[in-house]
This record gives sequence, structure tokens and C-alpha cells, in this order.
Amino acid sequence: YKRVTVKSLVDMKASGEKISMLTAYDYTMAKIVDGAGIDVILVGDSASNVMAGHETTLPITLDQMIYHASSVIRAIDRALIVVDLPFGSYQSDPKEALRSAIRIMKESGAHSVKLEGGKEIKESIKRILNAGIPVMGHLGLTPQSIYKFGTYTVRAKEEEEAIRLIQDAKMLERVGCFAIVLEKIPAKLAKQVAESVNIPIIGIGAGNGVDGQVLVLHDMLGMTHEFNPRFLRRYLNLYEDMTNAISQYVCDVKSQDFPNDNEQY
Ligand code: KIV
Ligand code: NA
Repeated sequence: YKRVTVKSLVDMKASGEKISMLTAYDYTMAKIVDGAGIDVILVGDSASNVMAGHETTLPITLDQMIYHASSVIRAIDRALIVVDLPFGSYQSDPKEALRSAIRIMKESGAHSVKLEGGKEIKESIKRILNAGIPVMGHLGLTPQSIYKFGTYTVRAKEEEEAIRLIQDAKMLERVGCFAIVLEKIPAKLAKQVAESVNIPIIGIGAGNGVDGQVLVLHDMLGMTHEFNPRFLRRYLNLYEDMTNAISQYVCDVKSQDFPNDNEQY
């Protein structure tokens, strides 16, 4: 395999090839996702919801993110790995941000980090980039700020917030980010952002005018079923398939159908 690098992503945007990205948090799933040909794997802090069952992304710790990232890293041959800096590991000051990013890179072997926010974290991003660590930005709906927003609804519908978002995207490009995630904003605005910068814009709930798409793996596989935003396309209904398989196993054990003559020594 030819490895995907931050450079290949920028080249993909220039040539018009769309970028595919999914989350993964563990070895077994990452192995499947990488083998299927994904370009980028995000070890998202959505692990806080998907893996740990928290209501928000806020509780997950840096140590827990490093555990997930190192598991994913051991599985991959080709994909570029991006790891979220979790809430509380970069907001205090640029030095703390750099320390956290260095821990992720050293202790997990990841290739890059992602931070939520615009100009308020500009100095932290610069510091991390100066250390040679590639940074992906994240604008629009930023779940680590859920208690400031109050809801997970579409962001930047008002002109003032839209203008700020475009300025933030341009700033992220200027300081040297290699890509930006835009979460849950109007498709028209996302397209405008993608056209205003040369770095790839990866959307989630941001329409098809951007340079790539990202989804949470467990959502697109239909393993979760309470989360139903309009932007989510489910490629399988694993919630149902797994439930059926497990109930069948329970029945087979109870009825002594399992194990049969060929399934024992
Ligand atoms: O943590 C996550 O899964 C993310 C994506 C939704 C972009 O940040
Ligand atoms: Na995230």
C-alpha cells in the first residue's frame, strides 16, 4: 500500500478527488476500515459517547484517547491517522496544548492531531505546528463547547457566525493546518469555505460542496440507533443483525443446539 499523508490530501483536493474519512477507536474495527481503503481514520473524542457511553465528549481523558489511538495505529497499513485532543487538554495555554499533542504523537504513534475552534486557539495551533506536528482544524458545531451552545443544532445560519467561520477557516489555512472538519453547517456556506481555501475541507452534515466526508463508524454501520440526524446515511443495520445473531446464540445454548458434534473435541 501507498500510505496516505497530509501531502496526499492536499494533492487530492487539487486534483478533485474526494477524501473519505471515518472514525475508529479500536484495533479490530480499524483493521477493517483501513483494509477497505479509507483515506483518513479519525480517532475521535466521539469515543466518549460511542465507546464509553457518556452523554457528551467532555469526560474522555488524554490517557484514554492515547489508548484508543495506539490500538488503531497497530491496525493500519495505509490510512492517515488523526487523533482528537480531548476537552481540557489544550484550552489553558499553548504550552499545555503542545504537551498534549506531543504525548499523543509519542505514546500512540499517531500522524496528526485535531483541535476544535478558531481564533481563540490560534496560538496553540501555531505552537503544535512549530513542533512539526500536523494539525487538522474543526469549525462549525464543536461538541466540546456544547454547554456554551446549549444544543447540537445546525451552526452558522446567521450571517455574523458565517462570516466568523470563513475568517477562522482562512486563518487555519494561513497558520498551516493541513485540513479542516466542518460540522453541521449549511451546505452553501461549507461550499463557500471550500472554495476560499486551498486545504481540504472535510464535512459532516455540511453538504456535497466540500472536499471530503466523515462519519462516525458505529453510526454509518447502524450499530447505534437512537442518533438520527438528517446527514447520517446508514450502510448497514448492524443493531438489528447483531441483536438477531446474539438472540440466536442464546437460543442455541439453551436448546443445546450449540455446540454440535463438529464443534467439540
Ligand atoms: O469525534 C468525532 O467523531 C469527530 C467527527 C464527528 C468529526 O470529531
Ligand atoms: Na471530535
